[in-house]
Amino acid sequence: MPDPAKIIIDTDPGQDDAIAILMALASPELEVMGITAVAGNVPLELTARNARIVCELAGRRDVPVFAGARQPLRRRLVTAEHVHGRTGLDGPVLPDPTMPLDPRPGVGWLIDTLRSEPRGSVTICALGPLTNLALALLKAPDIAARIGRIVLMGGAYFEVGNITPAAEFNIHVDPEAAQVVFRAGVPVTVLPLDATHKALVTGARNDAFRALGTPVGTAVAEMTDFFERFDLEKYGSDGAPLHDPCVIGWLLRPDLFSGRSINVEIETLSDLTRGMTVADWWRVTPRPANAFFVGDLDAAGFFDLLTERLARL
Ligand code: BDR
Ligand code: CA
Repeated sequence: MPDPAKIIIDTDPGQDDAIAILMALASPELEVMGITAVAGNVPLELTARNARIVCELAGRRDVPVFAGARQPLRRRLVTAEHVHGRTGLDGPVLPDPTMPLDPRPGVGWLIDTLRSEPRGSVTICALGPLTNLALALLKAPDIAARIGRIVLMGGAYFEVGNITPAAEFNIHVDPEAAQVVFRAGVPVTVLPLDATHKALVTGARNDAFRALGTPVGTAVAEMTDFFERFDLEKYGSDGAPLHDPCVIGWLLRPDLFSGRSINVEIETLSDLTRGMTVADWWRVTPRPANAFFVGDLDAAGFFDLLTERLARL
């Protein structure tokens, strides 16, 4: 088997972030070098805490967790307790973490790591607002050429928005950061709402998590139960969309996903559409492609993969 691919997870857990972290930790193809927490779904203290709870749930106290930015580059933080609950990880009752936070600042660690690893060998999985990544790129522009790829959950084209009528949450929270990332010249893969709204945890899929009969399977089922109540009220859909695990799914099985290499720009000026991902899906402008924008996924294949991976923990 080839050496595992090195990844860094930048995240704001969040139930769906937590499931993405578990999926990555369960996958022998991936080596999680570290987790950088960012303010997003809930404030930084809670996202940094939740990331450690998840590592401990997976029995992986060895994975370093760092605190990154506590607020967006230029905006006041918008959070999503209405989706994720007060702690960000409402649903299962999980013990407080005992592993400490790594004392090094997350953004500095990101820069040092990218500079010390072979060029192009590290993939960044971005599951929250892009503040940490943008700060790293602004402080150390040389790292742009060293990042293998950024695979991020964020944005939407056909699905438009979930936190405002025009914008998806991660991009809306820090649009200036997203603009830095999309303009950095780094290969980017985008898992937008167009794809993640098809990754729905139906009753049968949730039963499959619970049937694992493990602490991880039970916790994941309880997380999606909690997450679901919001989406049922809002969309009346078949289950909660598992946004962030799609990032890990794409890394493991890109054949389950389809999309287009297109230009994506971020709206930062308009109050009405702030954080909108202006995706040139139909290629109607001459603007060069700067992202692979996923539009569809094989949901059954994705959930089979996820459940099989969670069973390993
Ligand atoms: C994104 O926002 C957060 O609520 C989720 O964790 C996901 O990263 C979906 O819009
Ligand atoms: Ca997230």
